[in-house]
Amino acid sequence: MTEKDLKTLLASMTLEEKVGQLVQCNAGLFIETGADITGPEGEALPAEDLCRAMGSVLTFENAAQARALQDMHLEKDPKKIPLLLMLDVIHGMATTYPIPLAMGCGFDDDLIAECADMARKEAAAAGVHVTFNPMVDTARDARWGRILETNSEEPLVNSRMGAALVRATQRDNLADPGNIACCVKHYAAYGAGEAGRDYNGVEVSERSLRETYLPAYKACVDAGARLVMPSFNALNGIPSVANKWLMNRVLRGEWGFEGVVISDYNAVGELVAHGVARDMKDAVRLAMEAGCDIDMVVNAYYTYLPDLVRDGTVPEKALDEAVMRVLRLKNELGLFENPYHGADSEAEKRLNLCPEHREIARHAAEETAVLLKNEGILPFPKNLKSVALIGPFAAETRLNGFWSRPGVEKDTVTLPRGLLNLLPDLELTVAKGCGADLGDRDESEITAAAEAARTADAVILCLGEPENDSGEGRSRADVTLPGPQLALARAVITANPNTAVLLFNGRPLVLTELAEIAPAMLEMWYPGTEAGNAAARLLFGDANPCGRLSAGLPRATGQYPMPYNRMNTGRPKPQPDSGVFPFTSSYLDVPNLPLYSFGYGLSYTTFAYEKLELSRAEISKKDELRVTVTVRNTGKRAGKETVQLYLRDLVASVVRPVQQLIDYRKVSLAPGEAKDVIFTVTEKQLRFWNFDCEEVSEPGEFELSAGYADHLLLTRRFTLTD
Ligand code: GLC
Repeated sequence: MTEKDLKTLLASMTLEEKVGQLVQCNAGLFIETGADITGPEGEALPAEDLCRAMGSVLTFENAAQARALQDMHLEKDPKKIPLLLMLDVIHGMATTYPIPLAMGCGFDDDLIAECADMARKEAAAAGVHVTFNPMVDTARDARWGRILETNSEEPLVNSRMGAALVRATQRDNLADPGNIACCVKHYAAYGAGEAGRDYNGVEVSERSLRETYLPAYKACVDAGARLVMPSFNALNGIPSVANKWLMNRVLRGEWGFEGVVISDYNAVGELVAHGVARDMKDAVRLAMEAGCDIDMVVNAYYTYLPDLVRDGTVPEKALDEAVMRVLRLKNELGLFENPYHGADSEAEKRLNLCPEHREIARHAAEETAVLLKNEGILPFPKNLKSVALIGPFAAETRLNGFWSRPGVEKDTVTLPRGLLNLLPDLELTVAKGCGADLGDRDESEITAAAEAARTADAVILCLGEPENDSGEGRSRADVTLPGPQLALARAVITANPNTAVLLFNGRPLVLTELAEIAPAMLEMWYPGTEAGNAAARLLFGDANPCGRLSAGLPRATGQYPMPYNRMNTGRPKPQPDSGVFPFTSSYLDVPNLPLYSFGYGLSYTTFAYEKLELSRAEISKKDELRVTVTVRNTGKRAGKETVQLYLRDLVASVVRPVQQLIDYRKVSLAPGEAKDVIFTVTEKQLRFWNFDCEEVSEPGEFELSAGYADHLLLTRRFTLTD
């Protein structure tokens, strides 16, 4: 349809029909989707009325459901305006790849694009038109359960990976039934909730907001994301969905976003609980004034918006603009011509969990695992006769992480399966040893597990945090290993020191005590469908770990928030970061630095940083600075290194971080091979937000370093002149 056709359609619509385009319902109200209808939509209006009137639905699971929903609606809607079908496809549809925080450890934008492309194909076949992805809420606090959903604590990584996912998901033509529109979320700064508690208020300066929290959303908007979802939290006192500064001034004003804004689940209704709306009707007024187009689930718009327009509180012009944005999106997706878009049950059967997709998921799990410690016991030799596979996750199928689609755990390659796929003759003993639930105190099976360890050639100890203990609404005040897992580790490692620990967790955990006793630790995060195959190949050396931490791992929960790009303060703690230095910015009981820093990770080989050279000692704002980092594989086997480039602005009008990642590149190196990794630095990368909230660079001296956070190996200075 042309723009003129859309305007003609709009003109033909009644007020209720217009409002209906802004109403999103849970699909489970109309068909059996398996989703449990909880919360406000449970008190939703009569399904008959809603089905006729609504503009979109969320949360269904396959092409048959998608087609049934569309047929049901089109039969009832007098104007035959197709539904938008939306779903959270966060890290895979049927074939699940690692959680986003793991993908950030890959430091590989092409890898996330490859995974997103795979997810797009499976989701499009399932009938998805819009995915509520990417989530790019930069977070520095693992007490927040949703830290697992974002790629990194570093906004540069979130920006690059978020944009890569948008491009791989939307591609070039949304009318192509294989392509899906992206909804970037949760705008804004949802990851900075006070005390790491989900949905909690966020108080950040505009400068900090623009420097740390907004860039990744803007990168996704600039990459063409068609929808934006405001966050649940109040931002500097005003909940995002009613925050005119955030939505009208920045998103639509400064960034020129012309797409659809959709609230988060009942976020419009929650304005009453926030205390900024007297009642639901007032909440609708506030959300409309802030440019929120679609009301997800609570049907506040359906109930109150017609009257607000009739009495002039909400101008019909504002309603028309919101409706046109929704109609344009439907039109761009080609839904008026093809309301089913890509829904195709045959394609689902062909694509879901196909060997190519399993290979992509397995490769991603291998590339994003992080080797934290290895006292020479990994990789295990393949001629091992017997292995004891111990721990609460030893035979677990739920290794996919929050937002994986319901039921995918049935397809997970478990650890036992993966080990026997690789080594069919391996004698495998499996012992759970203990649970991992919060508050679990039962140590009764530890002795038997230790006995199983003692009699085996080697032990694989699978520890971590249950899949359902990180994610939305899963904040923890203490991010240590839950349950008696440390007691199990002590007993097992004492019984057999030839023990490698695998970790399955969504948030960074406190591993301080475990690191003191474990000879080897491999962080697997939630690796997804191919967990067992990836873990086996990594443990026995068919794959060489190359992940680098996307967020530092703390020594203690009390260190949070714990950004790697910290300020020096006026009383920096003397290095090395040990001992007690009262009257400095430090703790009496814990070192300042993380246990393992951002960007850290080991390999089965070793790398040496031989040179860091700059093409010039000074640059003006027009110049480019070529930076050459020479890195060599000094070990005996091939490996991949992520070369990280950090900047320090030595003197500026506001305090600047002691280290800030400004670029990264992953390179493969054969044994003995050296490579020059070339970066180009321009004045743009030297900019920051000054006290007056202007994005500026300031002349002066800068340092560029290679290495990883807190362990910068080579450093060179240069000057920005004018
Ligand atoms: C949830 C989440 C959001 C998700 C939406 C739809 O509450 O906050 O990330 O996209 O509801 O499921």
